[in-house]
Amino acid sequence: MRLEISTEALERIEAEFKLIFVCAKEMEHGWVSDSALLKKMGFEGEDESLCLLPERGECYVGVENPADHESFRAAAAAAIRALGSYRIDTLAVGSYDEGQKLTATGAIAEGILLGAYRFDRYKSKPKPAQLQRVIFSTQSFQGGSVEEAVLSETIDRATQLCDAVNGVRDWVNTMPDTMTPEALAEEAEQIAKTHDLACHIHDEDFLREQKMGAFEAVSRASTRPPRLIHLSYAPEGAKKRVILVGKGLTYDSGGLSLKPSEFMASMKSDMAGGAGVLGVIKAAAALKLPVAIDAIVGATENMIAGNAYKPDDVLIAKNGKSIEVKNADAEGRLVLADCLCYAQDTVESFDYIVDMATLTGACAVAVGDYTSGIMGHDSALKKQLLEAADRSGELAAELPFNKHLKKLIKSEVADVCNIGSSRYGGAITAALFLAEFIEEKNRDKWDHIDIAGPGFVQKVWGPNPHGASGAGVRLLISWLEEVA
Ligand code: BES
Ligand code: ZN
Ligand code: ZN
Repeated sequence: MRLEISTEALERIEAEFKLIFVCAKEMEHGWVSDSALLKKMGFEGEDESLCLLPERGECYVGVENPADHESFRAAAAAAIRALGSYRIDTLAVGSYDEGQKLTATGAIAEGILLGAYRFDRYKSKPKPAQLQRVIFSTQSFQGGSVEEAVLSETIDRATQLCDAVNGVRDWVNTMPDTMTPEALAEEAEQIAKTHDLACHIHDEDFLREQKMGAFEAVSRASTRPPRLIHLSYAPEGAKKRVILVGKGLTYDSGGLSLKPSEFMASMKSDMAGGAGVLGVIKAAAALKLPVAIDAIVGATENMIAGNAYKPDDVLIAKNGKSIEVKNADAEGRLVLADCLCYAQDTVESFDYIVDMATLTGACAVAVGDYTSGIMGHDSALKKQLLEAADRSGELAAELPFNKHLKKLIKSEVADVCNIGSSRYGGAITAALFLAEFIEEKNRDKWDHIDIAGPGFVQKVWGPNPHGASGAGVRLLISWLEEVA
């Protein structure tokens, strides 16, 4: 689908349908041709509700709160999903922004591109997408108009960003037998080629040479060799350098601490953090953001075999710390521990290091399925990420550290244990485990984002379809735009 812009007034644009947003409190504005008819049809402008007037070529959609861009994003996505079954080729939409920044227009464009996403790779008879073009008018609903150049920039940003988000969705939705660590590394190589990025792909020999005993142990029982993926984007004149580290478990069976079947299904999504950081570097390069980025992904499977790592094993990570394994299903933090060490040893000087992972079911228990958990030592950095989430339309909440929870990962036999000793606070004890692998001098540069809840969606919500959501990509791009 293509997004285009036009300086024509909305009613003069040649399109089969106009998409018109209204809110329940204010059902009338310049583009509403017959509000009495809408009411007759039972349309009250309720959130994400829809009314189609085919003879007039109008499609109305309700926006809960026009002051909140996320309302527009969700409404646009809902409209596009509903229109998906119609044979509509072209849509036209106007602007609902009042200031210079086209926040609502950007959100509408994102809602359209994210809402139109479909994953039909495994359907024997996929239905072809009908909608080909959406034309954005510079005309605003109050009668004025927005600047063409600003509109063009807004649409371009949404297009690049959503292209990356939808690409991440594709990687994560692809079945784990296809999307192996090697396949994910090939995707990274492709990004590097397209955007002229430096690309290093390391294999199991490298993990051994580098004494990455934790990552190596997790990957051992899989027939698919692991990959440590490292992409670098270094634009000229970059003011900041950021490391992004992602958990790329292309499958998490739980290992010898095997998951029950109902929890194992969907664990192809355990690579969502890794896929997400690849999506972020891809979008950042496409948008030419003036910030240097290293994207590092630990890609492997957590499987069972005679040589699998075991609860009771003691692993030595790259920084020399010993880890008592008590649960082989807490594998993501083991992979990330070594990737964080690798990142700090390899990238010479940097301003921030942020990791993103589907790390704990406990995070979703704490904040619900819709929200990512943000953890770290530095309040300013956490605040930056929380504000970026708000701007991007993603949901995020801080989960606070404390010294009592820190004691729960103490081990009798090694330096640290890979799970906490209590059933509670699991998202935080997982993050505190990761903190053990952040060097003291980098303590305030690090944050951890747990996307276990929103990374994979069971029931459609907002701009997210069933399956992989691409969580974290919009959040991190909004943050990088601010950092730059
Ligand atoms: N990949 C899972 C976490 C997860 C759960 C992600 C649900 C998405 C949805 C992770 O590797 C895991 O299994 N964590 C365990 C940790 C426990 C053993 C301390 C969990 O959350 O149960
Ligand atoms: Zn696990
Ligand atoms: Zn996992």
